[in-house]
Amino acid sequence: MAVYTRIPGSVAVITLKNPPVNALSSTVRQAIVQSVSRAGTDPDVKAVVICGENGKFCAGADIREFSGPFRGPALVPLIDDIEASEKPVVAAIEGVALGGGLELALGCHYRIAHIKARLGLPEVTLGLLPAAGGTQRLPRLAGIPAALDLITTGRHVSAQEALKLGIVDQVTDGNARDVAVEFARKIAGQPTGPRRVSSLPIQCPANLDSLLEQTLVRIRQRARGAIAPVACVQAVRAASTLPFAQGMQREQELMAALFTSGQARALQYLHFAQRAVGKWSTPSGARWDNTKPRPVRKVAVIGLGTMGRGITVCLVRAGIPVIAVEMEEKQLEEGRRAVHGMLDRDAQRHGADPNLSLASFTINLRDLGDVDLVIEAVFEDMALKKKIFRELSSVCRPDALLCTNTSGLDVDEIASVTRRPDLVLGMHFFAPAHMMKLLEVVHGLHTSPVAVATAMDLGKKLEKVGVLVGNCPGFVGNRMLMPYTEQAYFLLEEGARPEEVDQALEEFGFAMGVFRMGDLSGLDVGWKIRMGLGLTGPTLPAGTPVRSRGGHRYSAVPDILCEKGRMGQKAGRGWYLYEKQGGRVARPDPWLQSFLEEYRSLHGIQARHIDPQEILERCLYSLINEGFHILEEGIAAAPQDIDAIYVFGYSWPRHTGGPMFYASMVGLPRVLDKLEHYHQAHPDIPRLEPSSLLRRLVASGSPPLQQWRDVIKKHRSHL
Ligand code: CAA
Ligand code: NAI
Repeated sequence: MAVYTRIPGSVAVITLKNPPVNALSSTVRQAIVQSVSRAGTDPDVKAVVICGENGKFCAGADIREFSGPFRGPALVPLIDDIEASEKPVVAAIEGVALGGGLELALGCHYRIAHIKARLGLPEVTLGLLPAAGGTQRLPRLAGIPAALDLITTGRHVSAQEALKLGIVDQVTDGNARDVAVEFARKIAGQPTGPRRVSSLPIQCPANLDSLLEQTLVRIRQRARGAIAPVACVQAVRAASTLPFAQGMQREQELMAALFTSGQARALQYLHFAQRAVGKWSTPSGARWDNTKPRPVRKVAVIGLGTMGRGITVCLVRAGIPVIAVEMEEKQLEEGRRAVHGMLDRDAQRHGADPNLSLASFTINLRDLGDVDLVIEAVFEDMALKKKIFRELSSVCRPDALLCTNTSGLDVDEIASVTRRPDLVLGMHFFAPAHMMKLLEVVHGLHTSPVAVATAMDLGKKLEKVGVLVGNCPGFVGNRMLMPYTEQAYFLLEEGARPEEVDQALEEFGFAMGVFRMGDLSGLDVGWKIRMGLGLTGPTLPAGTPVRSRGGHRYSAVPDILCEKGRMGQKAGRGWYLYEKQGGRVARPDPWLQSFLEEYRSLHGIQARHIDPQEILERCLYSLINEGFHILEEGIAAAPQDIDAIYVFGYSWPRHTGGPMFYASMVGLPRVLDKLEHYHQAHPDIPRLEPSSLLRRLVASGSPPLQQWRDVIKKHRSHL
């Protein structure tokens, strides 16, 4: 609803009221229409203030209403009426003005924002565009370059940046409502015509076409295949070339196409999935998120390599004191320099001073007596991790949480050497840790609810999307990645080229295909893991028709590349050839082709042409199939958890909703059929055999993803 209040001295205040974020539900819109009309007809009212209850202006349309029939008054005429009012209307923005909320404010004649307010048009992140005049009014107010940036990325801006861009007229550190009322009193009776944003002339830059083209190029790099940002560009083009009324019409047409698209459904699903995973539960549905977390006042990070540095930066950014540990002075000094450098660059970007004093450094584990939580990030070596946890168990306070950032080692085995297995768990960050949003919180057999609650809470403070997962090799993300990369290797053996596999995956929407990604991260990473698992070493002798290990097909190609020193970009060669060591431009390597021909003839493989559809289906469906195994085993609580992991940790294209949502959109019967087909064609590849959960879901009529839980009759839960 919206509350109408008359303030002494000719001002009416309309307060939006719809907890928690004052979203513009049909009831709220109806109440605004009535309040605006009342203010318009009351002769004693000379100016109006619109604000939101509880320090939040408005987070836009009520997303929960998107799936139902449209009810209540539309936003566009409501905003037009406000703008057309002869009585000045002032928006008092506290907290957030997002989406339809900002569009409402743009329809007002003045905007006053609290210094901590955030403003933005995030519709693109929901697969939509700002269709209540946002694409037409913002370019008139902030200029085309800024509007293009904000509308195509959905990024929020601070009140100060909004002031600089001309989106707001004034920023205050006082109560925005009170300041706006005072201001409204002063301007009561002034003409509103010159303040109507729709009437402002548009400043069209001379290089408009190249600006729009550059934006489209950036979109293709960032979100290949996503249709909403492209529609946003078209709407801003309309603003710059058409009169306001025609621009509004174009905005509506573009929105109509987006609103019913599968991409909008996928992105809206993700909006709710992201919030659902924060309310973590076990697969049986038991809610544990009511457990109170322990306060974390100081953290230790052990190992200042790639991951430890990023994790330390995250903690300092969140204002948490951290003590970082290395094994020797030399590594400690390198780590300290790297962390300081990262914090400096970070602070420069935000125009602030780096908070270097929050990070201290030591080579002595005995200095960790006062920390509340430890994150270990040393080499991926079980013996080393156990040695460290044994020591931590005696050095740290008995109530301190001991966490490991292992990529996939057994958390229970690590916990077994401590005297507090209930306080041991995985906090699995993703590289680069100070940038990637995902945090897998790995629950061991003995981990207590309070330990999980504390790690999830810390993740939130670090602005991560924390997902609770069970303990198994590779947990959720890396375990699902294994069949995906394996398929890519088999496809090479069977006749595909790295660039063909990468192209198919990149056209699907990944920023990088599996081979380009492998070269970037270093092929030795997976090689070391495979060595640790005893999965490398000689394959069957030359001339043997099938390459197999333990009865399953195995590709030795990535191991042989590593043996030959082809570790990827850092070596100047890997799956591709680079101009120099550390080079970035990947070129197909004729050497690889002749090597593959030799490998095939050695093992009796007949090369064949493989089309992009087979590449996609084998890579994606084998990954999805593993997701079904994971759900069945209770390693993840729900498909939403898997989707959040893939979107926030593995750059899975957001507009497809994540692997499990994508499978539900493709249709489970089709995924099952294709897996059956490829499994029959390659019976020696174990992960192509459809999971029994997938079969059961199809047999139960392929229910919507929200109902999969009912079909998962787990035999055993790991959470
Ligand atoms: N509609 C309905 N519910 C919303 C909502 C919205 N626009 N925005 C947030 N919520 C709900 C969340 O789902 C969550 O609900 P639960 O507690 O039931 O899970 C609750 O509000 C709190 O949200 P967060 O947990 O995200 O809280 P936060 O403080 O971290 O963030 C926020 C607040 C910045 C507003 C964030 O929720 C957000 O970014 N929301 C989305 C805003 C958005 O995309 N608006 C555009 C909508 S489309 C539009 O406006 C176009 C149009 O007019 C047609
Ligand atoms: P890294 O090799 O870059 O860094 C490891 C650091 O640990 C080195 O600086 C080393 O000197 C230090 N170290 C070794 N023994 C130590 C000891 N006894 N005491 C203190 N410091 C010690 O490794 P990286 O990549 O940072 O990985 C660390 C952990 O994080 C591993 O378990 C890895 O599997 C995991 N991980 C790695 C990811 C990646 O992409 N690199 C992603 C997610 C997890």
